[in-house]
Amino acid sequence: MKNIITEIPEEHKIKPLACEEYLVNGQIKKWKGATSEVFSVIQTDGEPTLLGTIPDMETDSALEALDAAKTAFNRGQGLWPTMKVGERLKCMETFVEKMKLHREEVVKLLMWEICKNKSDSYKEFDRTIDYIYDTIEAYKDLDRTAAKFDKEGGIYAHIRRGPLGVVLCLGPYNYPLNETFCLLIPAIIMGNTAIFKPAKHGVLLIAPLLKAFQESFPPGVVNILFGRGRKIATPIMKTGLIDVLALIGHSSSAVSLQDQHPNKNRLRLVLGLEAKNPGIILPDADLDHTIKECISGTLSYNGQRCTALKVLYVHESIVDEFNQQFAKAVDNLKLGMPWDDAFLTPLPEPTKPSYIQELIKDAIDKGAKVINKKGGQLTDNYSFPAILYPVTEDMKLYQEEQFGPVIPIIPYKEIDEPLDAMAASEYGQQVSLFGRDVSRLAPLVDTLANLVCRVNLNSACQRGPDVYPFTGRKNSAVSTLSVHDALRSFSIRTFLASKDTPSNNEILERLLNSEKSNFVSTDYLL
Ligand code: G3H
Repeated sequence: MKNIITEIPEEHKIKPLACEEYLVNGQIKKWKGATSEVFSVIQTDGEPTLLGTIPDMETDSALEALDAAKTAFNRGQGLWPTMKVGERLKCMETFVEKMKLHREEVVKLLMWEICKNKSDSYKEFDRTIDYIYDTIEAYKDLDRTAAKFDKEGGIYAHIRRGPLGVVLCLGPYNYPLNETFCLLIPAIIMGNTAIFKPAKHGVLLIAPLLKAFQESFPPGVVNILFGRGRKIATPIMKTGLIDVLALIGHSSSAVSLQDQHPNKNRLRLVLGLEAKNPGIILPDADLDHTIKECISGTLSYNGQRCTALKVLYVHESIVDEFNQQFAKAVDNLKLGMPWDDAFLTPLPEPTKPSYIQELIKDAIDKGAKVINKKGGQLTDNYSFPAILYPVTEDMKLYQEEQFGPVIPIIPYKEIDEPLDAMAASEYGQQVSLFGRDVSRLAPLVDTLANLVCRVNLNSACQRGPDVYPFTGRKNSAVSTLSVHDALRSFSIRTFLASKDTPSNNEILERLLNSEKSNFVSTDYLL
């Protein structure tokens, strides 16, 4: 296949951006050391396009950021963790207003850096803004339900949620803004302080937001570093001073970072990891509808989503019909540039097309066939989606999370075949179940709900809406994220207890009336 060569419209042309700054202790500092070049796989004049440079930061700067976050938390005595909830919310409101001003710059960088198409790039930005507003409202709600005293066994209790400490926050390249902020925002709003390092791709788009962070939060609350994990994240973990590792990415990175931490019980984990979500297609599924959902499930953003459908189990009675229609639908998908809003866009990781080819070759060597005409056609930055059939357990494509445009199909006779495979899998995030017969669906839903954390009936897997719980079993996640759940994941219940005696009650009343405590308060946040 030939490389896509198109004239880049004037408004989408990009000039290299030298990001020479980082944020530590409320100061935007100039980086004077080595830098790394950031390229887009989208070519200009036949070569990857240079998008700019980022600091390749060293360990001493990482430790300086850790020190700033530690000092800002000050073992729970800092300004930020002891601040009134309403005041913290005001800081967040200031931030979101400032962030909104950078929509166009961030979206342009999303398109160039990670090749996400235009409408999905705008969606990623807008969804993040909505997430921040919704988080503010959810925290008000949480605070309102805590603005009271309980009484049990002769003891009054004023129960709230308090911060955990210093959070190391690491996000993925596929949602470099949204998923990272879905960790960072609830972490800081709950009174924690954070060190945040962007993913390997989707880095420059954080640069326009440094000032908004600096101007909105007290010094040390948010610290932003650029560079390699081994020079930044590893030494930070080794100090044992991190209270929460918040990471969306691969479980191997999560495990190796946890291994560095000397005080394992101190470390709380908020992790979104890999998955191999199956689509199970029952004999009575509505084929037209199922194919549309399977296209979006397997190939939205080229399958580079943790929630993507990564294996399809199709009942043997309909598999030929399904394969024929699905192959045709895949071959009709448009490959193009992000700004053309094409459904298929280049793969941002330079090594991804060759990895996908390896998976295809291995499956073919072990007996599968590519069943769509364009499947596996290769360019410098793309491997056209290939459907492999029939896929078996010995193939790499069965075992690995492909995170790209290649789709394994497995025929089954008895429903226990996909169920047993799911039970044996290391992953347990979501499943898509396609069918109509309630007597067949009912027992299946009962089992599937215990194998994964979301059963999608006749629709592709997805994270949203963000108010719903997003989590996984086994090696797919630790903790639950959602607007509401994330606030819980980044905090702990803590309370003032007071025996019901006349003298204690009199003190409590005076404490409340004095309004001197930010923790003990029955104020109702509007
Ligand atoms: O990469 C995993 C994302 O959480 C998926 O989110 O289902 O909204 O694409 P999404």
